[in-house]
Amino acid sequence: MVETVVDDHGPGSVWPLHGIRLGTAELDLRVMTEADLPVLAQVMPADLELNPHATRYAGLDERANRRAVLAQGYWRALGMWSPDDWALPFVARGGGDVVGVQWLEGPDWRSERTVDSSSWLVGPARGRGLGKQMRAAVLALAFGHLGAVAAISSAVVGNGGSLGVSRALGYRDTHRSVLEHSGETLQHVRLEAATWTASGLAHDVVVDGVATALPLFGLGEGAS
Ligand SMILES: CC(C)(COP(=O)(O)OP(=O)(O)OC[C@H]1O[C@@H](n2cnc3c(N)ncnc32)[C@H](O)[C@@H]1OP(=O)(O)O)[C@@H](O)C(=O)NCCC(=O)NCCS
Repeated sequence: MVETVVDDHGPGSVWPLHGIRLGTAELDLRVMTEADLPVLAQVMPADLELNPHATRYAGLDERANRRAVLAQGYWRALGMWSPDDWALPFVARGGGDVVGVQWLEGPDWRSERTVDSSSWLVGPARGRGLGKQMRAAVLALAFGHLGAVAAISSAVVGNGGSLGVSRALGYRDTHRSVLEHSGETLQHVRLEAATWTASGLAHDVVVDGVATALPLFGLGEGAS
């Protein structure tokens, strides 16, 4: 008989990204896992605009299609991961309940060292400063352990919540563009590392479990 020895060193033992944990005054953020998908599909708000380029299935109704976009977005992010183009989804919990999702992305990461982000909260959790806490959590990771030089973001001009979070954290308006699929105007914003450091907001965030994941960002010993 063959004996199987399970070498379990915690949540990051198979895929080191899953060991990353971020903590703020009210939130605990962990990297999304497949086990999170059913609850996320249940609480995902109806006003959340999903990737317009994602595959839609003619035989599924709108609700089922939105769930498929959520699931495939998760698998694509970790399945297509590379140090040059990565997207890291965090599930945010407050008092044990799932309240939202915060993405941190590094498109063209090794040459630009610039991160992008997007997020959503369940309706009842909005307008209480949690959006700021979620974004600050991933910025602390990006500007701290990952050494980002800048963070960018964008939102349609009427999205007061998203742009409010950006402005409250020190992002400055850069330019506007028009979304091809909807014709809406998008406001682009940018935050420099020096502005983030001067704000002192990183002190409100606890970042854990990043060391073993650094090679996946092209960082750490021996990385160029
Ligand atoms: C975007 C979102 C995550 C923001 O989170 P939030 O918890 O509501 O925002 P906060 O309470 O942290 O507010 C942050 C700032 O924005 C301001 N703000 C929040 N909602 C606002 C609104 N609707 N209009 C104007 N300002 C707003 C707040 O006053 C605060 O500014 P201050 O610190 O200077 O007072 C949340 O509103 C959401 O889930 N929206 C739907 C999904 C979405 O549009 N996501 C963005 C697209 S990627």
